[in-house]
Amino acid sequence: MSDATVLTPGELAARARRIVRDQNTWRGSQTLNLIASENLVSPGVAELTVSDFSHRYAEGEVGKRYYEGTRYVDEVEDLCEKTFNRMFGSEYSNVKPLSGAQANLAVFMGLAKPGDDVASLDVPNGGHISYREFGAAGCRGLTVNNIPFNPAEFTVDTEGLAQLLQSKKKTLRVVTLGGSLILFPHPVREVSRLVSEYFPEGDVVVHYDAAHVFGLIAGGRFQDPFSEGAKVVSSSTHKTFPGPQGGVVLAKSLDAKKTSDIRKAVFPGLVSNHHLHRLPALLYAAAEMMEFGSAYADQTIRNAKRLAKSLHDHGFKVVGESRGFTESHQVAFDSSDMGGGSRTSSLLASANIITNKNLLPGEPLKNSRDPSGIRIGVQEVTRIGMKEAEMDSIAELFHELLHLHADASAVAAKALKLRQEFPRIHFTFT
Ligand SMILES: Cc1ncc(COP(=O)(O)O)c(C=O)c1O
Repeated sequence: MSDATVLTPGELAARARRIVRDQNTWRGSQTLNLIASENLVSPGVAELTVSDFSHRYAEGEVGKRYYEGTRYVDEVEDLCEKTFNRMFGSEYSNVKPLSGAQANLAVFMGLAKPGDDVASLDVPNGGHISYREFGAAGCRGLTVNNIPFNPAEFTVDTEGLAQLLQSKKKTLRVVTLGGSLILFPHPVREVSRLVSEYFPEGDVVVHYDAAHVFGLIAGGRFQDPFSEGAKVVSSSTHKTFPGPQGGVVLAKSLDAKKTSDIRKAVFPGLVSNHHLHRLPALLYAAAEMMEFGSAYADQTIRNAKRLAKSLHDHGFKVVGESRGFTESHQVAFDSSDMGGGSRTSSLLASANIITNKNLLPGEPLKNSRDPSGIRIGVQEVTRIGMKEAEMDSIAELFHELLHLHADASAVAAKALKLRQEFPRIHFTFT
């Protein structure tokens, strides 16, 4: 794949430039990007990502740094933290984590010690690898318990969870909701009520991983985990929330000791310098969401619902039918009858339609290399201005390719044409 051993330094430098040009052209403007964890940033966010902040260090907290020269870092970090508190109703905000997985590790480090128990959804039921035994939670030495899940209803089995809480009275520290496959809100209110009932002393924290739905929450169109009883919310800043790649931890009604333990887990625990170039871009993205977030989240969810319905009408086995397919930016379908997730996602990619293969609820984890599902997210195509009519067109392309076995290059040409009708990013300042 690589000829790195023979290229001259000049050729390597030219290659780096060419790779970026090709990536920008191909993924940036020629494909229908339906990866549920991605987004396009606006020109304003892109512009603010490249600055002198890229070269600087600012270990420490706002106003209490270990380095000189941090006047503007303090200004922008303080504004980010306060803006996130304002948008999400939190009392504490930390924008230092470099990613959502790192934010989750900070939560686990702050709230639990090695040997403690935590509970989260298993990966096939939507849980992210970072709160499983082979991810961040395992790296912290935690014992990971599965939150029981009802795959038919696509929701947490709260009766089963009550039994788990009862059986882990002494060692449980964190219950994590949220996930990577999240079609519907999670029962945060019911789970918070159960946790308060079983742990009245407050030793167990309800944590909500909002990585996927952060932009929808910001727009006020998805569940508000804090008002439903979660005390800690972690997230990526670049999925439905269209910011630079990074992470965030927010807290509300969390006792001072636990808040401080999370803060220390982030710095000096996991982050030395927090890659400062993200911060002005993050602030800009937050401002975009304050101004345009409701309209964006609204259209995103409308588009997801329409795409799900349209795929269903074309005979796809769309997940979550009994609950109206989706309440988020995601749609998932079972592709077993078309050769499974690996074959289907790769065929779609050959037609300029980028998705990912995904385990579906109830499926064994061992299927992860070739799971049965396809996961789709419509937030990026929504950001470029697509609406319900285009969702029908996309469903039609899926149908032509996967059911009618149309030539992939013919479908690719149609996908390209559709993509190029939408050259501009919407929901941003002009
Ligand atoms: C629910 C959830 N949490 C956390 C993460 C990790 O986020 P990041 O890629 O920013 O580390 C992901 C990644 O897709 C995710 O789906």
